[in-house]
Amino acid sequence: MKYASLAIHGGRREDAEIKGVNYPLYLSSTFVQDSIGDYGEFVYSRSNNPTRNNVEQLIAQLEEAKYGLAMASGMGATALAFSLLKPGDKVLVNSNVYGGTWNYVSRVFEERGITYEVVTDFNHYDFDKATADTRMVFLETPSNPLLYVTDIESVCKKAHEKGMLCVVDNTFMTSYLQKPLKLGADIVVYSATKYYAGHSDIIAGAVVVDDDDLYTSLKFHQKILGAILSPFDSFLLTRGIKTLPVRMDRSQENTQKIVEYLEKHEAVKKVYYPGLKSNEGYELQKKQATGSGACFSITLNDNFDSVAFCNALEIFDLAVSLGGVESLVCHPASMTHESYSKELQDEIGITDDLLRFAIGIEDVDDLIDDIAQAFEKARK
Ligand SMILES: Cc1ncc(COP(=O)(O)O)c(C=O)c1O
Repeated sequence: MKYASLAIHGGRREDAEIKGVNYPLYLSSTFVQDSIGDYGEFVYSRSNNPTRNNVEQLIAQLEEAKYGLAMASGMGATALAFSLLKPGDKVLVNSNVYGGTWNYVSRVFEERGITYEVVTDFNHYDFDKATADTRMVFLETPSNPLLYVTDIESVCKKAHEKGMLCVVDNTFMTSYLQKPLKLGADIVVYSATKYYAGHSDIIAGAVVVDDDDLYTSLKFHQKILGAILSPFDSFLLTRGIKTLPVRMDRSQENTQKIVEYLEKHEAVKKVYYPGLKSNEGYELQKKQATGSGACFSITLNDNFDSVAFCNALEIFDLAVSLGGVESLVCHPASMTHESYSKELQDEIGITDDLLRFAIGIEDVDDLIDDIAQAFEKARK
C-alpha cells in the first residue's frame, strides 16, 4: 500500500469478532492469563496494550521500519533514545535543537556523567576529530527554529565509521516527507504531538527503529521508565494519522504561498525555509525529503515591530507547538528556546526579532490577509 492508504488501513488488523473499521480502545490495565506461566500477548498495559500496539505498528509501517514505540510525549521519546547512553559517553548535538532537548543535554547529561559537543554545522563537521568516547549523534533536520538542513546520509555514514549511533528527530517532517532510517539513521524520534496527532489535542511521542538489538533495549527502557502513551491518546493518535498526508499537503501548499509572499514583503528581512530556492539547504532538502514541511521563521526589518506584529495577528494564535490544523506564530527566544543562554542564542541566530510560524490548513488567502494587516499595524 502507498503511504496515504497505509495511514488509514495500517496497524493491527485482527479485531475479528466485532469488525469495527477503527481499531478499538482497550481500557484495561491488566489481561487475564489462562494459567500460571501461560502468558498471552498482553499481560499488563505498561508493557503492552493493544491500542498502543496498534499505533506503534502503524508508525513503524509508515516509516517502512520494523518497530515503533509510543511514548507519553516527544520528550519521552528523546529521553528513551538517551536512555541508551552510559556514564562516560559523549553526544554530538546540532546547535538549534528543540529547547526541551537542549535542556536535557545541557542540564541532565552532566548529572549522568555524559558529555556533549554542540555542532553548528554537521555538514562540514570533521568526524576524524571526534573523541573515541563519542557514542551518539543527535540531530534535527530541518533544525528548529532556523530550518538548517543537515545531510542525513552523509552524516550517518561518517558517524557509523566511527562507531556512533545516529538519532534523528524527524518531528518537522514526519515519515510522510522524510525517512531517516532509509538514509542510514539508527533511531528516529518524534514529537507525535505535532503532525502525527495533528489537532493540538494530545501530547505524544514515538521512537522508530529497525535493529532488533536496539529495539530490545529500547523496549526494556520503555517498560521500566513507564512513560508510555495511554490507550486513549493512542486511539486519538491513530485517528490523527489517518489524515496526516492530506493535512501535510495542504499545510505545505499554504506555507509555500506564504513564504513566497513574505520573501517579497518590505517588512521582512529574511525568511528561513528550505523550500525557497534562495535557501542554502534547498537542493539538499529536495534530495533527502519529498517536501519542506510547514514551519518557517522570519526576521523583520528595523522599521517593523515584531511584538506589535504578533499582537495584531487575528487568525494566527501566539502559541508554542506546531503541526496542528491551526496556524501559530511564536517567539523562539522567549517561548521555545529560552533554555539557551543569551550568548548561545546570539551565536546561533535565535535573535530577539526571530519569529517562527507553523502553518495550518486554513484558507491561505485568509492567512496572507491576516499577515498583511498585521504588518500595517506593526509599522514603526
Ligand atoms: C522538534 C521537536 N522535538 C521534540 C519536541 C518535544 O515534544 P513534546 O512536546 O511532545 O514532548 C518538540 C516540541 O515542541 C519539538 O518541536
